[in-house]
Amino acid sequence: MRILMVCLGNICRSPIAEGVMRHKVKEHGLDWVVESAGTESYHIGEAPHRFSQKICMQHGIDISHQRAAKFTADSFANYDKIYAMAADVYEEMKHIGGKHADMSKVELFLNELHPGKNESVPDPYYGEESGYLQVYDLINKGCDAIIKNIR
Ligand code: 4NP
Repeated sequence: MRILMVCLGNICRSPIAEGVMRHKVKEHGLDWVVESAGTESYHIGEAPHRFSQKICMQHGIDISHQRAAKFTADSFANYDKIYAMAADVYEEMKHIGGKHADMSKVELFLNELHPGKNESVPDPYYGEESGYLQVYDLINKGCDAIIKNIR
């Protein structure tokens, strides 16, 4: 199983999802590859936002080595399951993929936790540190749901 977590910048939400999911996959002894990417190019090569790093570290998860990468049309072929953190991300993935956009592989991340509700993980980038705590909590629950649903 190869999983890709996707947000806009790949510095706030999807790096948390990558780190948390990798941690859980290891705990459960699963043979899954987990990576992340962003639909925008602004932050390529950067480490995760300092508040994303901090909230993960507070839960014993070090994401400081992760670097932002761009979501590309090839991503559709390279992963089995692709999770969009938000509705705008989902739409942009369709656009980037063009004729390669295999949307049968794509799900809104929070639909694993709250099926059919089409909820988005809020974008914490322009907000306060407290927003990252809320985002972490949602992502943590979503990752638990993914493991439960896929296994
Ligand atoms: P992310 O958050 O998509 O969760 O990584 C954002 C990071 C950067 C920007 C927007 C959202 N930006 O506009 O630069």
